[in-house]
Amino acid sequence: MQLNDVKIYEYDAVVVGAGLAGLAAAKELSEAGKRVAVITKLHPLRSHSGAAQGGINAALGEDDSTELHEFDTVKGSDYLGDQDAIEFMCSKAPETIRWAERMGAVFSRNDSGKIAVRPFGGQSKPRACYAADRTGLTLLQTIYEQAFRAGIEVFDEWYCADLLYEDGKAKGVAAYNIRTSEPAIFNAKVTMFATGGYGRAYKINSNAHANTGDALSIFARRGLPLEDMEFVQFHPSGLGGSGVLISEAARGEGGRLFNSEGERFMEKYAPNAMELASRDVVSRAIMEEIRQGKGVGPNKDAVYIDLTHLPKEVILTKLPELRDLAITFLGQDMLKEPITIAATAHYSMGGIPVNIRCQAKHAPTELVEGLYAAGECSCVSVHGANRLGANSVLEALFFGRVAGESMVEDLDNIELQAATKDDAKGMIEQINGILTNNGNERVPALRSELQESMTMDAGVFRTEESLLKQKAKLKEIYDRYKNIRIDDKSNTFNTDLQEAVELKHMIDFSIFIVEGALARKESRGAHYREDYTTRDDENFLKHTYAKFNGEYDLDIEYGDVVLGKFEPQERKY
Ligand code: FUM
Repeated sequence: MQLNDVKIYEYDAVVVGAGLAGLAAAKELSEAGKRVAVITKLHPLRSHSGAAQGGINAALGEDDSTELHEFDTVKGSDYLGDQDAIEFMCSKAPETIRWAERMGAVFSRNDSGKIAVRPFGGQSKPRACYAADRTGLTLLQTIYEQAFRAGIEVFDEWYCADLLYEDGKAKGVAAYNIRTSEPAIFNAKVTMFATGGYGRAYKINSNAHANTGDALSIFARRGLPLEDMEFVQFHPSGLGGSGVLISEAARGEGGRLFNSEGERFMEKYAPNAMELASRDVVSRAIMEEIRQGKGVGPNKDAVYIDLTHLPKEVILTKLPELRDLAITFLGQDMLKEPITIAATAHYSMGGIPVNIRCQAKHAPTELVEGLYAAGECSCVSVHGANRLGANSVLEALFFGRVAGESMVEDLDNIELQAATKDDAKGMIEQINGILTNNGNERVPALRSELQESMTMDAGVFRTEESLLKQKAKLKEIYDRYKNIRIDDKSNTFNTDLQEAVELKHMIDFSIFIVEGALARKESRGAHYREDYTTRDDENFLKHTYAKFNGEYDLDIEYGDVVLGKFEPQERKY
């Protein structure tokens, strides 16, 4: 890759990522007459938003209220969620559903013809609106169509490799065309990241291959902080062995969990909510049963979810994709037999810190000019220490739109800082470094070591000892990465190269997960320390802000949680 070949594109706005958040933002920008480039390493319709199965929350039920939705979200977050952001999102959720519906999203209906809602974990009322078990896909297709109609320009199969950032201001990104390796600068007044989460740091996960946390590491490598990275959600029901998502809708529709002794074990862990306790609680319960030797399957590393008592039509009309997945991957038909599941890394609560206008922060209270983020790569923070199912699709769509509106409002007051070809130097050095490196470490092997060790020592259960072990392992992987070699040196669709870049991102953000988890000496939401088993509000009702200090080490500071009408109390289900 040569500096001379760098092309410079100029736009009002550049949006990186084309899932629900990125497309919602781009649509707003385009409709307001702004020129927007959407850069995405996949075709938009292959974005991971399309994998969201079970629903999108909105208090539409007759005896439900937005305040109850807020309370459930605050409680689910183990009180770490910022209550201003939660109130904003929950109060606008019904309007967001109507907006999506007006754009053409077809939701499932109840017998009276109203949008149907199903129960999900940790929620006191059924409020997950859904399109059978293809909710994310339905919404993604709708928003893509509408954003396209509004005139967005999509650079798909382009890889964003660097943020152009100087003196607290962003002026676009450096990216290259995956098909040809053509390098380019996308120079813009405003830049937005919407690149999704970081679940691929774990061996068993429900995430798309693409969820390698790119924007987080790019942001952090600019010396900017990441927030609450230690909070990684494990979804209770990943298909045994692969972790492919079996939606919470399966439990919402009545699925029951059993161990090898035929015990409906949730009675012990959440006697009231049972299978519909919040995800962190159910995931730990499943993994605890497995640890106690009560697992099922050939390796005794799963439990059963049983849906055989449900009427056949419920499965065929409301959970058809889930049934197909279990048949395809495990040869198990949920109409006839229980299927095997275990916890799977699913969602990242941490990310790029943003305020409720989706403006990125470079310190707990200071903003980066011209930079925005929304969706799973951001931390706004509506999910705190544990996200409720069906709140992520809502967050992505709602805050994606908010980010678009904020950029439209701010754009005219931001002067374009012109970029030059030299702004691509960092990306070009990185790419050429990987192409010419001739060491003896291989990317897939290092990636497996990373994922296996993160699962073992920084996963559902954590201790000082396991985290210190993982910290040392990460340093080893970090050093060995300098010695990688890839075989494909070509310029055409070089996935070897892309996977090497992505692995570096995975190593970088994993350092934040582990250091944040080590420093947080309490258990809260998805972060469970076996050596500090209770929540410690006195010392840790705080957001973690960590940033690189030099090449590898991190500095950690803490910022206030925005409290509100819901006082922290013990969380029971
Ligand atoms: O279980 C699910 O359908 C996943 C939904 C979500 O993560 O919000």
